[in-house]
Amino acid sequence: MLLLREQPLHIMSKILAKITGVQGYVPEHVVTNQDLEKMVDTNDEWIQSRTGIKERRILKGEGLATSDMGAEMVKGLLKKTNTRPEEIELLICATITGDMVFPDTANTICDKAGIRNAFGYDINAACSGFLYGLITGAKFIESGTHKKVIIVGLDMMSSILDYSDRTTCIIFGDGGGAVLLEPTEDGTGVQDQILKSDGSGRDFLHMKAGGSLHPPTAETVANKEHYVFQEGRTVFKHAVKGMASTVQDLMKKNKLTVDDIDWLIPHQANIRIIKSVASACDFPMEKVVVNIEKYGNTTAGTLPLCLWEWEPKFKKGDKILLTAFGGGFTWGTIYLKWGYDTTA
Ligand code: UT7
Repeated sequence: MLLLREQPLHIMSKILAKITGVQGYVPEHVVTNQDLEKMVDTNDEWIQSRTGIKERRILKGEGLATSDMGAEMVKGLLKKTNTRPEEIELLICATITGDMVFPDTANTICDKAGIRNAFGYDINAACSGFLYGLITGAKFIESGTHKKVIIVGLDMMSSILDYSDRTTCIIFGDGGGAVLLEPTEDGTGVQDQILKSDGSGRDFLHMKAGGSLHPPTAETVANKEHYVFQEGRTVFKHAVKGMASTVQDLMKKNKLTVDDIDWLIPHQANIRIIKSVASACDFPMEKVVVNIEKYGNTTAGTLPLCLWEWEPKFKKGDKILLTAFGGGFTWGTIYLKWGYDTTA
């Protein structure tokens, strides 16, 4: 009987996965709207009013790739959280611009960051990649099998952009961030999620060639089929609907009102999309995290970049919604309670 009485207390303290550190990285090289005016028929006024972007970062340098940005983030994260590389058990990398088609970039990042005891793999969910990665990592923590998991979300979009196509090259940039996930029983951490996908959306946002459907040939290169293709207006409409509906559904499911939520962190694809989602969900813009003007759309990198920049403002227990929409189509929203206060 004694055992039975003790058991419920133990069961009540559920293990959740909390973010215990975040580190962003953007390359030094800045490409302004004025720089793009010299490359394509566009102008600063159009870009700012239609997207909200002023500048973006581009990774430059012989032999540098996505894993080099990832390794910088991870090394910074380990230092910041006083974690030894050998303590990391799993590293998940969300990206659509891995160093190579195979092997995955997660393991290259581990190699470059000196992580030797972990297994790792990539997640390809485009702009929703960080959400998918965060939930996957959280499950390893919640199950009790893993105690230190890193989720990296980043992209080197400059490697798949056609800098003569004004409809795509003005939007995207390079960069991202990494978070450390650890178990907690203090009630903070990842609380709930609604994640979705619909493969019928693939026609509107993709890279045509380079995969098994259209392996690379001289013709695919000549036809510029190794670049981002997007039907912007169609994606725009789906993005607003997908993010707004999952934000609203998740809030309803968790009996949350706008007043309860401290921060809404949307994928940074277009300021007009962000404002439309905020308006559809009745969020005042003061609660909405926006840094698109500085970095553009870094695909899987936008959400961790926002977390990194806003980290000093977050307080332990803050209720945060992360939402994204991207190629696939993939989309969804995660609800988490921030796990720590930042001391300067
Ligand atoms: O992150 C993954 C998900 N992606 C997204 O969420 C992106 C969603 N889409 C968008 O953000 C927007 O659709 C874009 C920023 C891509 C485009 O903005 P838009 O307001 O939807 O423009 P549009 O495609 O309707 O084009 C309007 C006009 C067109 O000219 P006409 O046909 O009206 O004469 C375009 O040719 O703007 C023209 N245009 C440009 N003009 C100057 C398109 N790109 C440019 C440009 N500079 N860079």
